[in-house]
Amino acid sequence: MKIVIIGGTGLIGRPLGALLEAKGHQVVVASPSRGIDALTGEGLDHAMADASVVIDVSNAPSFEDAAALAFFRGTTTNLLEAARNAGVRHFIALSVVGTDRLQASGYFRAKLVQEQLIAAGGVPYTIVRATQFFEFLPTIADGYTREGAVHVPTIAFQPIAAADVSALLAEIATSSPVAGIVEVAGPERAPLAEFAANWLGAHDDPRLIHVTADGNYFGAPADDRTLVPDVGARLVPTRFETWLETQTQERAA
Ligand SMILES: NC(=O)c1ccc[n+]([C@@H]2O[C@H](COP(=O)([O-])OP(=O)(O)OC[C@H]3O[C@@H](n4cnc5c(N)ncnc54)[C@H](OP(=O)(O)O)[C@@H]3O)[C@@H](O)[C@H]2O)c1
Repeated sequence: MKIVIIGGTGLIGRPLGALLEAKGHQVVVASPSRGIDALTGEGLDHAMADASVVIDVSNAPSFEDAAALAFFRGTTTNLLEAARNAGVRHFIALSVVGTDRLQASGYFRAKLVQEQLIAAGGVPYTIVRATQFFEFLPTIADGYTREGAVHVPTIAFQPIAAADVSALLAEIATSSPVAGIVEVAGPERAPLAEFAANWLGAHDDPRLIHVTADGNYFGAPADDRTLVPDVGARLVPTRFETWLETQTQERAA
């Protein structure tokens, strides 16, 4: 079947497209660099013609509050209209575990607007909320860095390999819409500070870790419940240590 991947050139979209093509599907890689822009609408109707499934794994170029809201509101409105016109049978979007608990952050307010538009959008849908990608840890470490040290909270964290997210989305693309949220997380839960320290160690990063008592995640209050999924979430296989070893081997090769 024809499957359109919005953000098909990104971290999740690229391997997702390869997996779906390997299963014999016709994949349209949709992104501005391919002449398809979900914000301006350029190329959308043509991309969606005769499509059965749309998977939105795009991300806002800026995480600044107003820019993120304009992006997720604008793109999702355009995508839903094009999907309705094309008779799309399943609209899938990637969101973040804890989005509803992080509403002090403008980015997560924008993600919640995206989810609400989809739920009310008149196209059968599945929202997949994933925990933070292992690949996002350097951004997290940089975000908590002050004067050469990483001041990171101990809040519970259960990150996931991006490749596992792509594999789950490929499975959901050929399943029935759930008309709700599916949560997915990695196999291990530990303090965020521990994951950050292990990432720095594996990369010979000289920054010291300072564990802080005040829980916050990119400016939003956060505790041991904020970033981890509910009971019943899908847990994927790749362990953080295994992923780190693979990364180290790839850098050495
Ligand atoms: N980072 C995390 O830990 C995490 C965790 C859970 C969920 N998520 C969610 O995962 C999603 C993907 O995030 P990511 O960091 O993996 O993305 P990414 O690698 O930065 O890729 C972003 C993609 O969006 C495309 N894009 C940008 N503007 C667009 C537009 N106007 N129209 C269509 N496509 C556009 C880009 O296309 P070009 O290549 O052409 O620029 C690119 O393909 C986000 O919705 C995010 O909220 C992230």
